[in-house]
Amino acid sequence: MLKEYETKIKKILITEAEIKEKIRFAAKKIDELYDGTPILLVSILKGAFVFMADLCRAVTVPCEIGFMAASSYYDGTISSGNIKITLDLSQDISGYHVIIVEDIIDTGQTLKDITELLKKRSPLSLRVITLLDKPSRRVTDFEADMTLFTIPDKFVIGYGLDYGEHYRNLPYIAEYDAN
Ligand code: PRP
Repeated sequence: MLKEYETKIKKILITEAEIKEKIRFAAKKIDELYDGTPILLVSILKGAFVFMADLCRAVTVPCEIGFMAASSYYDGTISSGNIKITLDLSQDISGYHVIIVEDIIDTGQTLKDITELLKKRSPLSLRVITLLDKPSRRVTDFEADMTLFTIPDKFVIGYGLDYGEHYRNLPYIAEYDAN
């Protein structure tokens, strides 16, 4: 099992060091933008949990965290186009400058739905930061405010991203070998 698991990691696309460097840069940008104003980071589970953990420790502005979960992919590599909110925030966001923290934007449907939902709750401001963006897969016109890496249309795993719930614990982003 272990051998098959490892051979499915086709190629490392983004190293741990590259991710670290971009997060440092993004956190600096957030610190400059908010300039000491408290923020609420909202992570979209499960994929964004690793990015969230590193990003929230890299910013220096006062920071609270919250979690939501939405489901769009089922157990495979094809996006279904159906977004379901499976876990909602516990806090009222009307007094917060909110930044949604996402691992990947693919079709854009998840974040289009989530940003529309959160805007209705009247946050002081709302921005989106994503670790990865696959613009070639977009079916909506959604764009993040901050993108760390733009990638081609390859199925990627690691650093929070899964294939069949595995590989989220890899410290880097790799291409999954579907063969
Ligand atoms: C992935 C990813 C995004 C979404 C992006 O989540 O974490 O939330 O898909 O796809 P979209 O732009 O096409 O909507 P997934 O549903 O795989 O759940 P997970 O984070 O629990 O792995």
